[in-house]
Amino acid sequence: MSALSELNKEIALCQQCEIAKYRNMVVPGEGAEAADIMFIGEAPGWHEDQQGRPFVGPAGKFLDELLASIGLQRAQVFIANVIKCRPQGNRDPLPMEIQNCRVWLERQIEIISPKMIVTLGRYSMAMFFPGKSISKVHGTTQKRDDVLYYAMYHPAAALHQASLRQEIEADMLKIPTLLTKSETIKEEEPPEQLTMF
Ligand code: URA
Repeated sequence: MSALSELNKEIALCQQCEIAKYRNMVVPGEGAEAADIMFIGEAPGWHEDQQGRPFVGPAGKFLDELLASIGLQRAQVFIANVIKCRPQGNRDPLPMEIQNCRVWLERQIEIISPKMIVTLGRYSMAMFFPGKSISKVHGTTQKRDDVLYYAMYHPAAALHQASLRQEIEADMLKIPTLLTKSETIKEEEPPEQLTMF
């Protein structure tokens, strides 16, 4: 059994947070174990909780289109979320839920060892670009420990705010060049508040 499948079994048993009691399915994430790019969203919604798969609702449909715009299918990347259970009523994740769930994301990153981590939305951005605002940081990178971090708006943002659609599309189109150039991009000092890695 692959390291990710082993990990998924552990994640499926997790009962650390209250929301575990209400989930229909845990949503660990999916994709290639050897993916170069890992996309990290926020939390499962209703559709994801029904299917146990990330980004399968309307935001996921847009994410699939964005991936196709750079010639990728979801099986070629890895797609995960900051938290693996659906917050009831699709509320925002609580700090304690993010903290409890962090270990799973860290272990996924360790196994996949991606060249590039693309954060989708504020919660994922806050983990890797602490203290930054998404309107300023989207479309920019930081390189640390051989990993290129790249911030994007959440695909659902385009569904709520049509004006963001073009920015999201434009940010996605930068990914292939960034990935090709990633080895030549200069490393940066980790930000002081960085609590991960
Ligand atoms: N939004 C997310 O952040 N993740 C999903 O899996 C679905 C919607």
